[in-house]
Amino acid sequence: MDKPKKSWWILVIVSIGVMLPFMYPYLTFDPSKSRVVITSTTIQYPVLVTHIFLAFVALVAGFLQFISRIRLNNPKIHRTIGKIYVISVLISGMLAFVLYFYAEDFTKSLAFFVLAIVWLFTTWKAYRKAVKRNFEEHRMWMIRSFGLTLVAVVARLIMPVILLCYVTFNGFTLPGGIDEMIEEALRVNIWAGIVLNFAIVEWFILNRKLKKH
Ligand code: HEM
Repeated sequence: MDKPKKSWWILVIVSIGVMLPFMYPYLTFDPSKSRVVITSTTIQYPVLVTHIFLAFVALVAGFLQFISRIRLNNPKIHRTIGKIYVISVLISGMLAFVLYFYAEDFTKSLAFFVLAIVWLFTTWKAYRKAVKRNFEEHRMWMIRSFGLTLVAVVARLIMPVILLCYVTFNGFTLPGGIDEMIEEALRVNIWAGIVLNFAIVEWFILNRKLKKH
């Protein structure tokens, strides 16, 4: 991704555009506005708000890291934003483990749990490769890490497709009503996002490698 193309900017706008409305209720610092059921205002709510804030910082920082003009002309800025990305992911990802204990649904919380592990692992790998000045590997791991950051966006974007699958699976009926349909979709959308992003990212990395040989 040497020159950010138009499609890259579309991804930036869509990602921020998708996440801002989801983040809005939490910017009020009012637990009653939370979409996630809050059972603890002393631990769960502050942890959730901090997770969301830092995850958003990681999202924006991650986008900036792939802009080659910054990376090539201002390596110092690239390094600073990189540190902000790594610290945001590490704290936000750790906090996701705390949220796991407050989640209401096992299938969904397990997806978040797995996502947090791979998010932390790939980001740590990317950081270590940069420290060792192995920049080719650093890029690969950074692409993997950022692909996982984008799961939050993709999981929300693919909701209409999942709802459509649910309706067709049930022979164009809603056996448990609309609420049941949405709940079922929310149970699997993070898993679907992980699989989809993983496939796209690995395809992208493989393609890059093949083009080089
Ligand atoms: C990629 C690793 C991520 C993990 C493991 C993760 C984990 C979690 C968890 C466990 C929750 C609580 C959900 C619940 O209890 O139902 C949550 C909620 C939330 N996260 Fe993340 N998250 C990640 C990335 C992001 C990113 C990049 C953003 C972007 C800003 C984000 C924004 C949010 C928002 C807005 C909520 C509130 C959910 C809602 O109101 O529907 N997360 N996340």
